[in-house]
Amino acid sequence: MAKKIQIFDTTLRDGEQVPGCQLKTEEKIVIARELELLGVDVIEAGFPISSPGDFLSVVEISKAVKKVTVCGLTRAKKDDIDVAAEALRHAHRGRIHTGIGSSDVHIKHKFKSTRQQVLEQGAWAVAYAKSKGYEVEFFAEDAGRADLTFLSQLIEAVIAAGADVVNIPDTTGYCLPNLYGKRIKHLVENVKNIDQAIISVHCHNDLGLATANTISGLINGARQAEVTINGIGERAGNTSLEEVAMILQVHRDLELTTNIKSEKIYAISKLVSGMMRMPVQANKAIVGANAFAHSSGIHQDGFLKHAENYEIINPAQVGVPSSSIVLTARSGRAALKHRMELLGHKYEGEELNTLYENFLLVADEKKEVKDEDLQVLAANLPVLVR
Ligand code: KIV
Ligand code: ZN
Repeated sequence: MAKKIQIFDTTLRDGEQVPGCQLKTEEKIVIARELELLGVDVIEAGFPISSPGDFLSVVEISKAVKKVTVCGLTRAKKDDIDVAAEALRHAHRGRIHTGIGSSDVHIKHKFKSTRQQVLEQGAWAVAYAKSKGYEVEFFAEDAGRADLTFLSQLIEAVIAAGADVVNIPDTTGYCLPNLYGKRIKHLVENVKNIDQAIISVHCHNDLGLATANTISGLINGARQAEVTINGIGERAGNTSLEEVAMILQVHRDLELTTNIKSEKIYAISKLVSGMMRMPVQANKAIVGANAFAHSSGIHQDGFLKHAENYEIINPAQVGVPSSSIVLTARSGRAALKHRMELLGHKYEGEELNTLYENFLLVADEKKEVKDEDLQVLAANLPVLVR
């Protein structure tokens, strides 16, 4: 039977950390409501101690949503945890996400501490957060570069202290998919109390591997994925929600499912991009302007014969209105004929050949031949059949 993957959305925390993407509380509430309708399980609403604005956002999002868990980020510090607990007081279901660096580079150069001290502080923070009566998730920051034996000891200690979820972030986007998957597998097989917690994967995209690493983690036993809409996040971003949801939908053989209502993906992608003033790159998987656009002659011909020749997802599955045929100098007769027919002009044989030659002259001049250009071409061609 298929296993359920929890979707933990951190668009409003890790995503909102991006310079220029800051949102007002009212805007965050709009996005949080849409995330709830989209079907995410957890919304990380902010880092309450970081600013009065973030505190307020966590309070107001806690009031605004009812079905999802609302999460607030903290460091492994008493004040952070106290403030997060206060911010979450209206949450129908609240979660404190606390943690500390777990790699030697973080332990030495960020905390000037030792593995033992980090382990004790992590376990203490979890127990303290737990005493506030919320669910507790522990993050082992930079787990992707941590010593695996130490990481296993740390995870065992925080689970013993009460962690409900253990997050194994590849904070710097360093890991390769097979090695990240191996880390998760190692924890599953070597942490003796691992069955008492859910393993979460949180991957950054510094090498363009965030989604691949997330999927590898899920295949190897993680049951929660931390993601953002459009993959926004620190530096090169986080794993994108739309990619994970659609990979699991397309590859049913993995037997991993989510509650995401995929037909809502395109609308929320546009909403987040607009509110955050963060354009989506045209070739972005699933939600980019070219994700369902066909421009070369060979592809257009194959697509027009049978969409599945070149599309593994029907655009309607993710709420994209339709596929598109883009006419450029690389387009062929089939696409030109098709587009002309949509405009009410029917061409065959020699007439189509002449039209195509004229079309190429225009296409060489312009990056994309638009409907207006086609109308001009049609008007300047002797018409046999209409
Ligand atoms: O990337 C990271 O390690 C994080 C943690 C705070 C969870 O965002
Ligand atoms: Zn992160």
